[in-house]
Amino acid sequence: MPIITNVEDLRRLAKRRVPRAIFEYADGGAYDEATLRANRADLDAIKLRQRVMINVDQRSLRTQLVGENATMPVAIAPLGLTGIMHGGGEIHAACAAEAFGVPYTLSTMSICSIEDVRAAVTKPFWFQLYVMRDRDFVESLIQRAIAARCSALVLTADLQIQGQRHRDIKNGLSVPPRLTLRNALDIATKPAWALNILLAPRRTFGNLVGLGRGGSNLSTLSQWIASQFDPTLSWNDVAWVRKRWPGKLIIKGILDADDARHAVDTGADAIVVSNHGGRQLDGAPSSIAVLPGIVAAVGDKTQVLFDGGVRSGQDIFKAMALGAQGTMAGKAILYGLGAMGQDGVRTALELMRNELDVTMALTGTRDVQEIGPHKLFVAD
Ligand SMILES: Cc1cc2nc3c(=O)[nH]c(=O)nc-3n(C[C@H](O)[C@H](O)[C@H](O)COP(=O)(O)O)c2cc1C
Repeated sequence: MPIITNVEDLRRLAKRRVPRAIFEYADGGAYDEATLRANRADLDAIKLRQRVMINVDQRSLRTQLVGENATMPVAIAPLGLTGIMHGGGEIHAACAAEAFGVPYTLSTMSICSIEDVRAAVTKPFWFQLYVMRDRDFVESLIQRAIAARCSALVLTADLQIQGQRHRDIKNGLSVPPRLTLRNALDIATKPAWALNILLAPRRTFGNLVGLGRGGSNLSTLSQWIASQFDPTLSWNDVAWVRKRWPGKLIIKGILDADDARHAVDTGADAIVVSNHGGRQLDGAPSSIAVLPGIVAAVGDKTQVLFDGGVRSGQDIFKAMALGAQGTMAGKAILYGLGAMGQDGVRTALELMRNELDVTMALTGTRDVQEIGPHKLFVAD
């Protein structure tokens, strides 16, 4: 077993263990991947302020995310098709999050259904909603999330039309998916992954089975989804969702201060500053570049969460120093899952927690609530 010291080690292991088309689906971004790279590069460019001779013996990473206790300021991001990185992936990730004490977000586009995940965990999880043209269907999804006692609805605003992902097309992971000879040969070299998928409770979009006009075949459902995402989505629809959802409402995919103000006006309890991990508008700024402006605009009115490029505890610290109250982790979780299943998700969370803890100590920070702009190094 290779020694794992950081999320990049999990990424390398996942690359070896998961078929190429699937690894690249998780790893890649839209078009030339400029925004994907900017998410990482802009976080890397931020420097931390080292402080010494401060008693940092007792440190606390505990916080509240959208009103819920969390053992560290991280939630698992909604990740479509998690269950193809590792069979039953959503259940493994949700169980790892529950054991760790951080929120888990289930995607509309998950393989395991809302009910599958509900049956596997004891604490409430968050459900991410894509708004489709068929509002009866959207309403039924909201009802299922209520019945499953989900504690927050994460409404994703930035994927009514999909940004093109060159790697998915080249790998035959288009909609509908094509099984190319190269994919078949590649899968043959990943028997552990294939066995996991074969033994998994589901292999199709669990939340959508039986609801579409196309039955339960994945490729047919994919065609159905492509035709069902509603490009007319507007703030009026958010008000429509708000009326039907009694719990916390989080709007995800905000990259502009004006949009953040709209989200607050429609009654959002929190927003996620996000460019969908660089998978949508290529050429958009990194999430971290826009975070301070959005915090300045709405930070006193709503909780601001952040995602995009988070691979370490240092990244979490930087986002919090720039005003986020917590972050979501996307690819870091998928790398863990692809590398080692549920253990890998736990490992990814543990790595980030330990890094955040040590970063706090070395910056003279005893409590995550103390993290602010004064913790960053600014050259004279
Ligand atoms: C493979 C993959 C699938 C995703 N699926 C969804 C989804 O179904 N719904 C959603 O709101 N965001 C989705 N996202 C975006 C993530 O929720 C999150 O915004 C992004 O991954 C954060 O960036 P990071 O991967 O650098 O942490 C997906 C991201 C990845 C990598």
